[in-house]
Amino acid sequence: MLRTHTCGQLRLSDVNHTVTLCGWVQKVRDKGGMIWVDLRDRYGITQLIFEEGKTAPEVIARVRSLGREYVISATGTVQERLSKNDKIETGDIEINVTGLEILNPAKLPPFLIEDDTDGGDELRMKFRYLDLRRNTVRQNLVLRHKVAQQTRLYLDSQEFIEVETPVLIKSTPEGARDFVVPSRMNPGEFYALPQSPQTFKQLLMVSGFDRYYQIVKCFRDEDLRADRQPEFTQIDCEMSFVKQEDVLNMFEGLIRHLFKTVKGIDLAEVPRMTYADAMKYYGSDKPDTRFGMPFTELNDLVQNKGFQVFDEAELVVGINAEGCAGYTRKQLDELTDWVKRPQIGAKGLVYIRLNEDGTLKSSVDKFYSESDLKAIADRFGAKAGDLILVISGRKDKARKQLNELRLEMGSRLGLRKPDEFKVLWVLDFPLLEYGEEEQRWFAMHHPFTAPKPEDLSLLETDPGSVRANAYDMVINGTEVGGGSVRIFQKELQGKMFEILGFTPEEAKKQFGFLMEAFEYGAPPHAGLAFGFDRLCSIFGGADSIRDFIAFPKNNSGRDVMIDSPSTLHEEQLKELSIQVR
Ligand code: AMO
Repeated sequence: MLRTHTCGQLRLSDVNHTVTLCGWVQKVRDKGGMIWVDLRDRYGITQLIFEEGKTAPEVIARVRSLGREYVISATGTVQERLSKNDKIETGDIEINVTGLEILNPAKLPPFLIEDDTDGGDELRMKFRYLDLRRNTVRQNLVLRHKVAQQTRLYLDSQEFIEVETPVLIKSTPEGARDFVVPSRMNPGEFYALPQSPQTFKQLLMVSGFDRYYQIVKCFRDEDLRADRQPEFTQIDCEMSFVKQEDVLNMFEGLIRHLFKTVKGIDLAEVPRMTYADAMKYYGSDKPDTRFGMPFTELNDLVQNKGFQVFDEAELVVGINAEGCAGYTRKQLDELTDWVKRPQIGAKGLVYIRLNEDGTLKSSVDKFYSESDLKAIADRFGAKAGDLILVISGRKDKARKQLNELRLEMGSRLGLRKPDEFKVLWVLDFPLLEYGEEEQRWFAMHHPFTAPKPEDLSLLETDPGSVRANAYDMVINGTEVGGGSVRIFQKELQGKMFEILGFTPEEAKKQFGFLMEAFEYGAPPHAGLAFGFDRLCSIFGGADSIRDFIAFPKNNSGRDVMIDSPSTLHEEQLKELSIQVR
């Protein structure tokens, strides 16, 4: 090897040893008679020292020619430092260099390779390989590696087998848009990249694999956000001969193992909430349970008192922001403007302030007596010093808007701490949701999800009220995973496709292979998939998954480093039988 040690390895016990280190020049400090170089590699930083008069003149000349990020090799003796640096692990020692070799000079990097860099987002992405030299980003990838290792360890200990499934598959009409790949050998035909290995893992259950997992790339051509990338990674799992309860316990076990081994945290029992309750009390299927502030419905207390806005509303619902009665008129106006922004879309915001002196003051005093307001405050269990915030309108809209306001108030009150973790199962999702635009039913999770047996009879008469054995895991308000008990009988699967608007011919064309497999002895099975990038970003206390992916895409789905997507040569297009306008 070109080196005897790494830049993070040497300690006082190594003093007087002759060593050779390799790495990148972080910094050169030239004080005339003395020159110091901070040498950096993945493992740390070690100080090199050169002294005029003592170090050979050609070595001094060479060190004076170094620039930031030069790749060098330095040989010398380990010595105790006169002024120690307790901020780095090698801070007690330095290397008195006798031999210096420049392995490769470097151009001046376009931004500082330090924890606090001066590089903007776009520049860091263009030179991602330099960004990855920075501690913070590298540590995120080390964390990702640990999560992957521990996932494999746990699942292996539970008899799961890792099986790879194909990446060139077939486009399906459900879910997000597919990324497609033209087939040269089959002109005019296309593969699709998998949005998930869903059907393959179900086929592996038919094959008798019993317990499958895969840490696998998935591809979805959808609008991007901080927690969404066009290609992302799942921890994808499936089990045979299990009930929902078994799946929940198995994967609660995985998350508990990951929290323990990666974060050193003993996770408490994971609470469970139905989808219906999540919507009623938090207005979201992924409530952030690091703080309370549940919704309280007020229709019966506030309607028919002459306030038209509330009278006409399908739902009047509010939250209690504890200790916020001190909000000034200006702050309340600002909050009202905040909910009225197009992104939230509320028509307005009603407040009731519980003053410290026991009086109540609201923005709708004209319509409600002090005792009316008192009855509302009592329903919230509010006390002096609290501030009740109320939104009204169509049920789904009002809930959505109040969810945004609740999260905002949680943030403003410092209740959403990045180092606190609250895990939650959300259960009993509806099987179907109605697409108003398309005027048809869509599978809420995916078309392979089983309805709850007790709701089966409603499938024909009231499809919207059928619940599914489908579950999501939510951590701190982020959906980190989801899955379901699957349909494993051909007839029910056929029925499901019919409800989703497939003709029998279309269903056969798209999913014939699965329906056929169900005729050859399919076991009952269930599973789920975790969003691996999201899990890592939560463990890392960050909102964006981008910094936990080595080479991510930007918000327009571009890789600005390799400049992709890009056009193809005429010849290549012709070969693929593709005509471009
Ligand atoms: P689902 O579509 O819910 O389920 O995906 C599972 C998890 O993957 C993560 N995820 C994403 N992460 C980053 N970028 C994206 N664009 C993205 N999309 C999804 C989420 C999500 O919870 N086959 C089913 C699972 C099953 O039923 O077993 C599936 O893919 O954290």
